[in-house]
Amino acid sequence: MKQLHSIDDLSKDDVLRIYDDARSFAKTDSKHPHSEHLLNGKTVLLAFFENSTRTRISFELAAKRLSANVVSFNSSGSSVAKGESLLDTLSTIESMGVDAIVVRHSSAGVLQYYSRYTTLPMINAGDGKHEHPTQALLDCYSLIEKVGSLSGVNVTILGDLLHSRVARSNIKLLKMLGANVGVFGPGSLLHGKSLIGAFPFITLHASLQAAIEWSDAVNVLRLQNERMVGGFLPSMNEYNKHFGLVHKKAQQKRSLLILHPGPVNYGIEIDFATASSQSSLIRRQTKNGVAIRMAVLASLKL
Ligand code: CP
Repeated sequence: MKQLHSIDDLSKDDVLRIYDDARSFAKTDSKHPHSEHLLNGKTVLLAFFENSTRTRISFELAAKRLSANVVSFNSSGSSVAKGESLLDTLSTIESMGVDAIVVRHSSAGVLQYYSRYTTLPMINAGDGKHEHPTQALLDCYSLIEKVGSLSGVNVTILGDLLHSRVARSNIKLLKMLGANVGVFGPGSLLHGKSLIGAFPFITLHASLQAAIEWSDAVNVLRLQNERMVGGFLPSMNEYNKHFGLVHKKAQQKRSLLILHPGPVNYGIEIDFATASSQSSLIRRQTKNGVAIRMAVLASLKL
């Protein structure tokens, strides 16, 4: 694999190979931090122009567990605040000697843009509303751990699809792995007809009740307030009342598996009881992020 900008860069065989490797890397933990030396002598740049906890730390752990050197760049406190461009920032750090770049940025398409100026492999750690491919990889991997195969499994993505890179990557990967994909959320946050136009195989649910009845699993999205300009919702209370996955509703179907990419806004898209219930895979998702990102970094063959 030369890059991972989008799920479109992966074939099904690539995904299955990443999952095989992730199962093997999952045995690497803090007690055996350097049991793999695949990236020995290589330097991985984590270039984060937008906030992150899970993705940044799991990429750092993943790279270190493969024996790479890690350089962490955060735009806050950097010369970006003095007006330095994305191109100058990345090419300046690249000239110091790195072998691969992991990028998070608030603008969609920054990896495609910078790939015109570099030959280094780049991994997308989330670019604006475009994609978050490693999140989708770990979401589907966590589901497969529970259900064995995604073939014929019904998965609904709930909430703010309009601003969600997680949704776009998940829809593509779920489809590739044979799942049936549903969506539900407020009309103002569903892309309107364009989402269905882009992914015509999607089932659009009429209510949360209908979504729960249809689904084997739901992936609850965070309301992306930082990407909303204008009035998409009348109020958070009303959003929670009509679209929030609260315990009483989730309990209507005890077999329903619950995912959330995090960070969670408790009391808005989901409540604490549901997020921490036996049906929730949220902790597994976070844990699996390290092994999945090890497998992705290893597949770059640096
Ligand atoms: N899911 C996810 O990308 O979380 P972070 O923003 O904490 O990395």
